Amino acid sequence: MSTYVLMKILESAPCRYDRGIRILTFGRLDKVYDRLTSHIKRGQRVLDIGCGTGALTLRAAKRGAEVKGIDINSRMLEIAKKRSVEANLEQNIELYEMGVAELGNEKEEDYDIVMSGLCFSELTEDELTYSLKQIKRVLRSGGTLLIADEVMAENLLKRILSWLIRFPLIIITYIITQTTTRAVKNLPHRIQEAGFIIESVRYDNMGRFIELVARKPEAPL
Ligand SMILES: C[S@@+](CC[C@H](N)C(=O)[O-])C[C@H]1O[C@@H](n2cnc3c(N)ncnc32)[C@H](O)[C@@H]1O
Repeated sequence: MSTYVLMKILESAPCRYDRGIRILTFGRLDKVYDRLTSHIKRGQRVLDIGCGTGALTLRAAKRGAEVKGIDINSRMLEIAKKRSVEANLEQNIELYEMGVAELGNEKEEDYDIVMSGLCFSELTEDELTYSLKQIKRVLRSGGTLLIADEVMAENLLKRILSWLIRFPLIIITYIITQTTTRAVKNLPHRIQEAGFIIESVRYDNMGRFIELVARKPEAPL
């Protein structure tokens, strides 16, 4: 799934984002998101970080959750809003133009689930560290963290191979958008370090894409 670097190009044309990402991933991302959101139950409070056009947000709302989606790209949010109205789910969805840097304004232990798809790979190191700390704070004890993202393969051979595929795509993306994504290094380890218990981890064949479920430990009695 080295083609994820091209998503930065799609983000610059949000109206084409959903179709583009489906083509780039041969529909595999839809299956990943269906699996991840199957952990969400009716009535739960959910935060979607970097919600974009609402791929995870809408799935969670369809399962009866109350979802807050945040994103820094107002044009992606406009599409998410339109989709929520079309799906008649706007009562279950709040959307805010807001970056991870503002997570500190969220109430403590306010969410049952925090989820994020393909956003961690767009954050700086400091933003990612800060986000994990804030996610732990805003999740209730026993709450669930759901992540799908591009990661750096642990196996050296796979890392070299995917770098060879990715490099020309990085150049193309950079020329068009003056920005790129950063495959996240050691994500399960970082999530554990932030104080979560990993429940399940699944990688694609190249070890370049992670699907992760983690839990915030219950508070001691
Ligand atoms: C590749 S898109 C994925 C969108 C959506 N989660 C999905 O899977 O379709 C990444 C999103 O993260 C958002 N994003 C990037 N940096 C962010 C930040 N610092 N705070 C909040 N959102 C951010 C981008 O604007 C973009 O909409």
